[in-house]
Amino acid sequence: MRRPLVAGNWKMHGTRASVAELLDGLRRLAVPNGVEVAVLPPFLFIDQALNALAGSSIAIGAQNCAEEARQGALTGEIAASQLADAGCAWVLVGHSERRLIIGERDEQVIRKFAATQSVGLRPMLCVGETLEQREAGKTLEIVGQQLACVIESLGVAVFERAVVAYEPVWAIGTGLTATPQQAQEVHAAIRAQLAAEDAEVAQAVRILYGGSVKAANAAELFGMPDIDGGLIGGASLNADEFGAICCAAGS
Ligand code: PGA
Repeated sequence: MRRPLVAGNWKMHGTRASVAELLDGLRRLAVPNGVEVAVLPPFLFIDQALNALAGSSIAIGAQNCAEEARQGALTGEIAASQLADAGCAWVLVGHSERRLIIGERDEQVIRKFAATQSVGLRPMLCVGETLEQREAGKTLEIVGQQLACVIESLGVAVFERAVVAYEPVWAIGTGLTATPQQAQEVHAAIRAQLAAEDAEVAQAVRILYGGSVKAANAAELFGMPDIDGGLIGGASLNADEFGAICCAAGS
């Protein structure tokens, strides 16, 4: 049995005041037994989140890290080792907003993935196709390539200490969710691709769905056999909504 994981990606949202209010709500949540929960605040608020959620079962992660694993002369970047030192457990790598808006390439995603693991943190590797790619029938090819480059460079065993998040770009922040069947098809393909290398790793790895997940659609998505939880953007900024999604993962 894979333990469901729900992670909240706050993206570039929040002020000191709104974050304090959100953390207050999160601290009061009754996280269901058997569900792992993490939140990924902007770097600026990681310390505030760690303090506010100390003693709760909610883990903290970052949304990005430098390609260099260790601290050094690299203005404006944050090293994975610094995130580990701060108390983070997770790092999101390869989110589509970084790939498509900032121009992050596969090679950089691979280096960040490796940097994260080299200091004992767990990467959440995001993969997903654009609307254009889906309409061209290329979904499985694109997602397969994004996964293959990590397997080829780092080996399949790295997925013993990582999570994959399938996030169709057309479903992120748009209110358009993949249907449970559409998502399941891609999740099953991701698991099969890993299984072709190592059946045990594939069976154990958690594959999260992300893209306009909310309390109202979470249960049917999480009910699919290869969907092991969610990566939640907009809906993670509301503690009650996020809490309801966590409950859906536990039912
Ligand atoms: P969304 O974002 O839930 O707001 O669609 C998901 C994500 O980008 O991680």
